[in-house]
Amino acid sequence: MPFIDWESRFELGIENFDDHHRRLVSLINKVYDDYTAEAPSEVLGAVLEDLIDYASYHFYMEELWMDNNNYSRLDQHSAEHDKFRTAMIEFKRDYNQGKLNLSLELLMFLKNWLTDHILKTDSEYGVFIKSKGAGL
Ligand SMILES: [Fe+2]
Repeated sequence: MPFIDWESRFELGIENFDDHHRRLVSLINKVYDDYTAEAPSEVLGAVLEDLIDYASYHFYMEELWMDNNNYSRLDQHSAEHDKFRTAMIEFKRDYNQGKLNLSLELLMFLKNWLTDHILKTDSEYGVFIKSKGAGL
């Protein structure tokens, strides 16, 4: 069973961003699988890097869309993204320097942050997009 099971309630009904979210779930599941399989730190480091890169791309695309569409809650939304970006960058730096091990605590943070963010903050712009009848 995957660490995060994709659930229909995660879907915003916006194909592009739903695909991004599915990919983020699958990357976090990959980190979890490698962690539980006790993969070497280079392997875990590389998959964490993939997750950080993809999350950055995804956040950028959401923020760009919000900016282009005058979404009023862009600042609050991007502040939430920043918390995740900062936490991951600090974690990756410490991990690379051997100061920190990957832990179940970090994996739970990733899981909870993403699922909460999709269900609460992202769903607000999902409603906004649909109300505007706006495409992507
Ligand atoms: Fe978001």
